[in-house]
Amino acid sequence: MSRIHDALKRAEQERATSTGTHVEPAFDQPELRNEVRSEGQRENMPSFQPSPATVMTTMASGLNYESLLARCPQTEWSPDPRTMLFFQDDDNRVGAEEFRTLRSRLYQIREKMPLKRLLVTSALPKEGKSFVAANLAQVLVRQHGRRALVIDGDLRNPGMHRHLGAAQTPGLSEYLLGECDEFAALQRGPMENLFFMPAGRAAGSAPELLSNGRLKLFLQRVEPLFDWIILDSSPVIPVSDATLVAGACDGILMVVKSDSTPSDLARRAREEFPDKLLLGVVLNGTSSGELGRSKYYYGEAVNSHA
Ligand SMILES: Nc1ncnc2c1ncn2[C@@H]1O[C@H](COP(=O)(O)OP(=O)(O)OP(=O)(O)O)[C@@H](O)[C@H]1O
Ligand SMILES: [Mg+2]
Repeated sequence: MSRIHDALKRAEQERATSTGTHVEPAFDQPELRNEVRSEGQRENMPSFQPSPATVMTTMASGLNYESLLARCPQTEWSPDPRTMLFFQDDDNRVGAEEFRTLRSRLYQIREKMPLKRLLVTSALPKEGKSFVAANLAQVLVRQHGRRALVIDGDLRNPGMHRHLGAAQTPGLSEYLLGECDEFAALQRGPMENLFFMPAGRAAGSAPELLSNGRLKLFLQRVEPLFDWIILDSSPVIPVSDATLVAGACDGILMVVKSDSTPSDLARRAREEFPDKLLLGVVLNGTSSGELGRSKYYYGEAVNSHA
């Protein structure tokens, strides 16, 4: 085992001890070490692409994770006050309690299995995927010391930056194209411990980009830095992109729009992920008013509640 590897393991253990959380050591995985090597050897990558070895050496040379995250640009956000529930001081916004319940359920599941990377998806457009993903990330970092990354994985129709009032680029598509490193594509906003990776510029070649291996590599690299990684995605029925993102996730949350999503399409959407754990279903917009509520159900409820 190399000295660098030893140092990374030690840093990982120190962070786990200081936060009271167990973090899987991403660099401990033989699969990653192989990928890192082949990625580093890839030709035609831009010269400013920092090699994985650079990142590993930086970590091994004594810099802690906070130092690495400090490389993410601090940016101005203007979150939409109508739908972003946790940026104001008011803890009793309509819908906020449902997100706390969802958070509790996720921690209950996490007691039984490793769970960090969640895919948020739905059958059709405009059912509330980005709304749920963004608010879930916020409620997760409301707990002291928890750090979350929310990623807009909808490369065809990026939308989360609008909810957060953040810049759209650089982001995931630029990273997948090899045009920037992982830290340049992340943003720190006004909420402590909440990091955002926007989709970047809209990409027509979304399936090719999402399956070029770099998304998986990115997640493996940044995983030790976060307690939760939430991935927003495209709707499942019109395009297959979400199934590609799902491959890199531990489980999926399916959003169903109340009185709107046809039950057969909700079922078909779930069937697109035959090998993936369905963590649950979020029934979005269950009451009228300024802000519809979201409810969470365990996985099997998709049939009876859609
Ligand atoms: N529970 C809710 N209450 C009020 N407005 C909501 C709610 N859920 C979603 N919306 C609004 O509905 C619109 C669509 O939501 P959102 O962008 O989250 O959907 P989406 O599934 O991500 O859409 P797309 O498939 O286009 O990415 C947005 O304007 C959002 O603010
Ligand atoms: Mg969306």
